[in-house]
Amino acid sequence: MDQRKMHGMWGSRWTFILAATGSAVGLGNIWKFPYIAGENGGGAFVLVYLVCIALVGIPVMMAEVLIGRRGRMSPINAMRYVTREAGLHSGWTSIGWMGVLAGLMIMAFYSVVAGWALNYVVEAGSGAFNGTSGEIAGGAFGEFLQDKSKLTLWHSLFSVMTLVVVAAGVTRGLGMVARVLMPFLFVVLILLLAYGFKNGDFGAAFNFLFDFKFDKLTWGGVLVALGHAFFTLSLGMGAIMAYGAYMPGHASLGRTIITVGLLDTLVALIAGMAIFPIVFGTPGLEAGAGPGLMFVSLPVAFGNMAAGQLFGTLFFVLVAVAAWSSAVSLIEPGVAWLVESKKFNRITATTALTLLAWLGGMGCIWSNNWLEDKPAGVYVFESLDFLTSQIMLPLGGLFIAIFVGWLMRRAIVCSEMDAEGHPLFDIWLFVVRYVSPILIAIVMILSLYNKFVA
Ligand code: PFF
Repeated sequence: MDQRKMHGMWGSRWTFILAATGSAVGLGNIWKFPYIAGENGGGAFVLVYLVCIALVGIPVMMAEVLIGRRGRMSPINAMRYVTREAGLHSGWTSIGWMGVLAGLMIMAFYSVVAGWALNYVVEAGSGAFNGTSGEIAGGAFGEFLQDKSKLTLWHSLFSVMTLVVVAAGVTRGLGMVARVLMPFLFVVLILLLAYGFKNGDFGAAFNFLFDFKFDKLTWGGVLVALGHAFFTLSLGMGAIMAYGAYMPGHASLGRTIITVGLLDTLVALIAGMAIFPIVFGTPGLEAGAGPGLMFVSLPVAFGNMAAGQLFGTLFFVLVAVAAWSSAVSLIEPGVAWLVESKKFNRITATTALTLLAWLGGMGCIWSNNWLEDKPAGVYVFESLDFLTSQIMLPLGGLFIAIFVGWLMRRAIVCSEMDAEGHPLFDIWLFVVRYVSPILIAIVMILSLYNKFVA
């Protein structure tokens, strides 16, 4: 069947930009970036993260979308197509397989945290934050994390929400959501930024995020920054490759991807500058608070600002929506493959994969007490996060860069980039051939060596 009929196609370049931004902007920007920046000492970490976005993230993102558009199929089959075209061993298809697996693994913990945001919609809406302090908000969040039935309920609800959109078809199901709600998220973040500026300790937050003190940075932190560059751009696992497959042939790849990368980075920085002034301006809150950072600091802001009940509710709705439009792209690569190659219908394929990810999420909930001082044991949440963000996504990115930089025919790469004779093309190709793979390899080897051997 014609691929266009099987999966649909974005209406225009802008629909692609919005959908790709919808995939990129999510919990990674608003929840994860501020807390890992906090845990890794702030400034120097942020600088390394920005370097990773510029020298690895955006160039590799172009390469990944390029493969998707060339192959015009699910990541597994797109990889198969470009591998055959280049006359290579079919082992290269495993980039697609690893991506499908990574997507389900990320979805498992992603949907648990998105469930936290859903719960906070109700909390904010019912006025539970009104007049709250850092201590009370911290206590309430801690209590929530012990309530396994509540966690299960919200995790399940979020899984069903994702299922519905993916089953409806990404282009049909998602185009609308992205177009209307993404701009809203931006507006509310700016509002929070203004609140932090007026009422929090903006100067301390600014110094924390942009004062580059390298003594706080470890090799482990550098790997976290690199891994996050992949995570936040939905990179290295086929999500953005699948979206590239639905991209119209005439849209300029370079400019499009740069727009997506810049929007994503902007949202992360604004989220950081909205959250940290409150953290530093409120006694009892600390920057290294871990995964609970946003869920403790923002209730304090909303609980004490004019119309905070309304804005708080709206904010957590938007976080949930941002997570929603990202989660969809986590499941899509596997679904597209089941539909193409195994002749599943979309609904069955989506249900099967969502169920698998849901089970992983239940593992996160049951294996974790979410406390800071954990006794020795297996923690599914932390393990999934580490394996995907710090191993699978960077490895996927490394192989994609090598594939496009070294193994695909230059003429094909050039024509897909629509960059005949463009001076930036050569610079990009140089980065994808040398800079990105070497950086990924060095960071992975050194930090894993330090973690497990030294
Ligand atoms: N980019 C998303 C975020 O920052 O929340 C998470 C994500 C979505 C990662 C899709 C990977 C992916 F394929």
